[in-house]
Amino acid sequence: MKVGLLTGGGDCPGLNAVIRAVNQRIQNAGGHCIGILEGWRGLVKGLYRDLPISETDGIIARGGTILGSSRTNPYKRPETDLPEVRKNFEALGLDALVAIGGDDTLGVASKLHADFQLPMVGVPKTIDNDLNVTDFTFGFDTAVNIVIEAIDRLRTTSESHRRIMVVETMGRQAGWIACFSGIAAAADYIFVPEVPIDIDHCIQVLKDRRAGGKNYGIVVVSEGAKFPNSKETTLTERKDDFGHAQLGGIATVVADKIEKATGFETRSVVLGHIQRGGAPSAYDRVLATRFGLHAAELVLQKQFGKMVALKGTQIIAAPLSDGVSNLKNLDLAFYREASAFFQ
Ligand code: F6P
Repeated sequence: MKVGLLTGGGDCPGLNAVIRAVNQRIQNAGGHCIGILEGWRGLVKGLYRDLPISETDGIIARGGTILGSSRTNPYKRPETDLPEVRKNFEALGLDALVAIGGDDTLGVASKLHADFQLPMVGVPKTIDNDLNVTDFTFGFDTAVNIVIEAIDRLRTTSESHRRIMVVETMGRQAGWIACFSGIAAAADYIFVPEVPIDIDHCIQVLKDRRAGGKNYGIVVVSEGAKFPNSKETTLTERKDDFGHAQLGGIATVVADKIEKATGFETRSVVLGHIQRGGAPSAYDRVLATRFGLHAAELVLQKQFGKMVALKGTQIIAAPLSDGVSNLKNLDLAFYREASAFFQ
């Protein structure tokens, strides 16, 4: 049995742990894996590499992906790219492909399975934790840990200068990273995309805290957060192959309003891609490894058109189409708990 592995979309810590686990399980069963390079672009262009166990055994601690990634969407240029995908799949002699990605990458896998019966199995990943079906994605825990380490550092400089620091996190349309890191770093206020920005309330909270003796403040804002009746803040009008604009810059807008209304010196920090870099946390290594082992199992059982997912503590299989039908917003129960600290 020959199994292809592919990582698509934004990278995140834990991808290499999945590659290692799938490779090991397939080899244990007498098969072997190859790596398709740079996401779907690799299948369009026929780019691949061998994956000897000796080269994947030690990669669990490495961030990013040894296969490379891209946001290529073969359905954007269906006349030219889809025939290439099918041709290369055949030419490589693949019996199955394990696609590791977010909703975009898994959406392509789901369509290729539905449209051409290509034998696909999906593994969900993203720091945003916005994938349906699975309780958590690997990458998220590491990203939250990176954010809280950054906030812990920002706290000391903010306190020294009696400043308000507005910290922008990633997450696209989902506030998981902002909410969890805001709770874990004891932020004075958290803005998420699911709840319109109430800047007046935030300003009041910051003034009350100052009056109560706290001479600095930390505000966490998710990149997709919006003021009532306005669009999200984008860095450019350019869009990727899947139609996503590059978000960013809302922290500066929020910081400006806070400084004007309070008179407190305020700075903003955009954490950006730092949140996706470096070694995966223990939690992400374990989750990614379990996902990889169970994905390989689906391949061996020829359960194609499925993805693995976390439900409670169990790894389950779900139809790929369920995972990509719509995004999983922040569960507002978490936000209500967080807001106990900024009422
Ligand atoms: O989906 C993961 C993510 O990191 C989002 O949080 C962010 O908006 C986006 O990717 C950034 O994408 P890129 O790496 O293409 O700039």
